[in-house]
Amino acid sequence: MPKYVAPKGTHDILPAAKDWVDDIAKWHWLESVVREITRTYGYEEIRTPAFEQTDLFHRAVGEGTDIVTKEMYDFETKPNIKGETDKFTLRPEGTAPTLRAYVEHRLDLSRPVNKLYYLAAIFRHEKSQKGRYRQHHQFGVEALGASGAEIDAEVIALAVAFFRRLGIPNLTLKINSVGTVASRARYVAALREYAEPLLPEMSEDNRRRHETNALRMLDSKSERDQALLADAPLLTDFLDAESQSHHETLLGYLDDLGIVYESDPRLVRGFDYYVKTAFEVQSPDVGAQSALAGGGRYDALVESLGGQPTPGIGFGLGIERTLIALQALNVKTPDAPGIAAFLCPIGDAARGASVKLLETLRGAGIVCDADYTGRRMKAMLDQADALHARYAIVFGDDELAGGVVNVRDMAAKTQATVALDALTAFLGT
Ligand code: HAM
Repeated sequence: MPKYVAPKGTHDILPAAKDWVDDIAKWHWLESVVREITRTYGYEEIRTPAFEQTDLFHRAVGEGTDIVTKEMYDFETKPNIKGETDKFTLRPEGTAPTLRAYVEHRLDLSRPVNKLYYLAAIFRHEKSQKGRYRQHHQFGVEALGASGAEIDAEVIALAVAFFRRLGIPNLTLKINSVGTVASRARYVAALREYAEPLLPEMSEDNRRRHETNALRMLDSKSERDQALLADAPLLTDFLDAESQSHHETLLGYLDDLGIVYESDPRLVRGFDYYVKTAFEVQSPDVGAQSALAGGGRYDALVESLGGQPTPGIGFGLGIERTLIALQALNVKTPDAPGIAAFLCPIGDAARGASVKLLETLRGAGIVCDADYTGRRMKAMLDQADALHARYAIVFGDDELAGGVVNVRDMAAKTQATVALDALTAFLGT
């Protein structure tokens, strides 16, 4: 075991790693699909700092949520000369920072609807296991400024299209309406009343949730809790008329789009900011951590962060979990692009000459590399193969004296002698 290892629950992303979740080529491919799909749907990228004032997350995510009570990486800065400190938190989700930036920079003035996306590292101190990390990454979108169900349908369609484009056909879209703040408060009161006499039999977690965040009792992992709550009142029965009609309109749009969904009246999700639409995309192929993406509407959040009243909806999509699903499904991914030429210099003089030759070729836009260690010819050609080089350029003292190099076509296994001053043109064709 080396002395220093990556912190528990984090992972390095490396060239040519066996697991896709650790392999940079797979990340680049997935990120290219993110860029392509967001452009198609008209979403623009936003990048916010990796940490924010702690209070932002208390306010946005909610005091009683698991994220705020158990999972945040909070830290206090060293005191400045006046003895003052700042309280910051590593971003535990992407919605609050995006909305903070939206309010701070008055993006509402720039266009009526802002459609934003991010690719960002997210930090949560959770129990680490396969598919659950302490630093994970999300592709998220937030659409701000539109209240109609059309944008809900677009956001959901984008997530579904993204997974389809990657090659994950088999998905479950769970959807629910969590109502308005007022209708949810009525429901929570009814749920607490129902659960009260059952508390002695419930898990400690659920007894705590009953106090702090009763809605989350429905998310309990304990089978006993689930059995006790099997006949609990349903959120759906408490919905106000507006939330109900919004939901029905949305389901109609999803039908029109041919997007199959499962209505799940128990889907509540772990954030206080959701109103009306809440959804989750799950994959049956990846084991316990099956939620690949989750999102919903948050019509009061911008205002609660100090902005103008602005409706919004978005989702966060776990990149690690998506890569785990793709590998489990053995999806075909595009081949990594090869290089044009690999230089195989023989002897010290040739190795010295390759410094300038590489720079000349690269200056002409030719992707090339070289052996730097004076290895045997077979080892150099093996490396050219490993890099999927189209040509190996072999040269020693004799070739240098004659102003030529030997160009070996790696696929055809043929070789030609090419004058150095014609090499760029030769390789560029
Ligand atoms: P979330 O459901 O907490 O939502 O996270 C979104 C996705 O991130 C999850 O579906 C999962 O794929 C992935 N994820 C979450 N935690 C972990 C973890 N510990 N390890 C690996 N992957 C994880 C949000 O964060 C909301 N901000 C989504 C949102 C955006 N709602 C509206 N806009």
